[in-house]
Amino acid sequence: MRQFYLFRMKKTAIHIPLLIKQEDELTTQELRLLNEARLATYRSYAPYSHFSVGAAVELADGTIVSGSNQENAAYPSGLCAERTAVFYANSRYPDVPIRRICIAARNTEGKPLKRFIAPCGACRQVLLEAEQRAGHPIEVLLHGTEGTYFIRSIKDLLPLCFDDTFL
Ligand code: THU
Repeated sequence: MRQFYLFRMKKTAIHIPLLIKQEDELTTQELRLLNEARLATYRSYAPYSHFSVGAAVELADGTIVSGSNQENAAYPSGLCAERTAVFYANSRYPDVPIRRICIAARNTEGKPLKRFIAPCGACRQVLLEAEQRAGHPIEVLLHGTEGTYFIRSIKDLLPLCFDDTFL
């Protein structure tokens, strides 16, 4: 009986392709997007964590909008940079799909992160909705001074995700 179960068991794996680029390997538009994300960190409001995050969103028509983390004394009322940027983009330009998002951060000493910044689960879920809304993959650029990680789609950041295909 035990052997029967083993026979039916399947092993599989999910592979997520990553491209890691150094700053001098970025295209002009990628560098523009990264610079907007870095600039946005200086507009962060983070008096509690002192961790400044900036997100720059590139729309299908090339427009770039950015956002930063906005904290609150009632901690959960604050919002991450990614959601600030995506919600702003979608409310300002509801008919223009998002093409790419770049995220950068500075640590509690104000220094740029060496390792890439990883978006939280809630931001990934919101980005997934934006991807569905766009109808095409949204590319993600996670910046660290050691390299910028390129992820081809939000789905890669949220494998086995819950989306509207379950509804
Ligand atoms: N934060 C972001 O804005 N984006 C991330 O990807 C991770 C975390 C913010 C939330 C909070 O204001 C601060 O960073 C520390 O968690």
